[in-house]
Amino acid sequence: MPPLPTIELFVFGALPSRDWRAALDDTGFDWQPTPGVEALRAALRRSGDGVCGVLLDLRDIHDATLLQELIGELAAPRVRSLCVQRGDATGRPLLFELALRYCVDNLVEPVAPEVLRLALDSLHRRLRLLGVARAQREAPAQLDEMVGASASMQRLFTQIEKVAAADVPVFVAGETGVGKELAARAIHRLSTRRHKPFVAINCGAIPPHLLQSELFGYEKGAFTGASQRKIGRIESAAGGTLLLDEIGDLPLDAQVGLLRFLQEGRIERLGGTTSVQVDARVISATHVDLEHAQRDGSFRSDLYHRLCVVEIDVPPLRARDDDIERLARHALERHARDAPRRIAGFTDDALRAMRAHGWPGNVRELINRVRRAMVMCEGEHISAADLGLAALADAAPPARSLDEVRDLAIRRAIALALERNQRTVVRAAGELGVSRATLYRLMERHGIANREI
Ligand SMILES: Nc1ncnc2c1ncn2[C@@H]1O[C@H](COP(=O)(O)OP(=O)(O)O)[C@@H](O)[C@H]1O
Ligand SMILES: [Mg+2]
Repeated sequence: MPPLPTIELFVFGALPSRDWRAALDDTGFDWQPTPGVEALRAALRRSGDGVCGVLLDLRDIHDATLLQELIGELAAPRVRSLCVQRGDATGRPLLFELALRYCVDNLVEPVAPEVLRLALDSLHRRLRLLGVARAQREAPAQLDEMVGASASMQRLFTQIEKVAAADVPVFVAGETGVGKELAARAIHRLSTRRHKPFVAINCGAIPPHLLQSELFGYEKGAFTGASQRKIGRIESAAGGTLLLDEIGDLPLDAQVGLLRFLQEGRIERLGGTTSVQVDARVISATHVDLEHAQRDGSFRSDLYHRLCVVEIDVPPLRARDDDIERLARHALERHARDAPRRIAGFTDDALRAMRAHGWPGNVRELINRVRRAMVMCEGEHISAADLGLAALADAAPPARSLDEVRDLAIRRAIALALERNQRTVVRAAGELGVSRATLYRLMERHGIANREI
């Protein structure tokens, strides 16, 4: 079981007495006082969208407007509250409504610390269940950890949801580092096979002479050293989903066995005399252009057609506009614990540079650059230089007029050429098909400094 997440509890009203503080410390809550509605509201906002508890000390609250405001704050479905009041609330409609509709328990003065502790324990248990229920409900809707609000990613999420519901082979195309494996995992988790294994094989990473035995397994005595039967990766995905990653790197001889599996749903272990039925959904992925690979004979057409019943394309990072910043912040939060110091965010020049960069390594490159920057960064904010993108820091924000679009394109092309050529102007000029003098002039006109990084 993963460790239970700590649950936050906000204590509204008078500052808790010593007895109460002892009771509060004794529970699984991470608690803090939020004496007024403003403080409570701010704390709730800060706490994000996970479950949290509120302990309302209403013993000295008589103001109807205040109660109304409190009700407004407590209505969120992720919040559960517990209130303490002085005497019966029936004669006070707002207090009554608050206690009845918005609190899981309602304690009446005098409240012994032991009673409070039991009530808090019960609130904690309830919130834990609520947290689990919400996580189960929300995981599919959020497509796991896939960050993306851009139109192109929203389209991808819709496609993922659709193909997840159908039990057909899916081919995931996209450049390296765009999140193909993540997309495949999301398909699995949204499908009816979600409780069965998800097995990922990187066909490019397994030495060719081991591929057959890795994929199909072998029988005892199949070859020297095969001292007992071994189940292959395909068989171990039985009932679940098999991701054949970098399928473009699969040698032709292994393609034959795979084709048989896709056609008949059966595999043969090496050295075996009978075939075994295996029910696994196949998702394949590669950054290689398979149409091209078919033409040059390195990939079988019949296999291609079996694999690509449905194709989905994961867009490159540069086509995802605002998601670049969103992903960068996501990476920053995810790796915050590894950083030597707290880092608040990115400087404006870093944000501009990230928008201008071409991201050939896509999300993987973005994560790596952010992680490295977190170590290199000297201030509270990560700069373009920390990201290794100093040459792009002068790039302008998104342009509007045609002139601006052209200028931006020129600026980007120059910055990228410089980056690719380790800032050697002569080589960058050669790549861009202009003379060195012209490139220097363009750099000056577009305000591109050839700084070292
Ligand atoms: N949309 C996304 N949101 C968050 N992380 C992502 C996203 N896409 C990719 N990543 C991360 O980027 C890295 C590369 O993703 P991966 O699926 O291995 O790419 P690919 O298989 O296309 O090369 C992984 O660390 C993955 O978690
Ligand atoms: Mg991959």
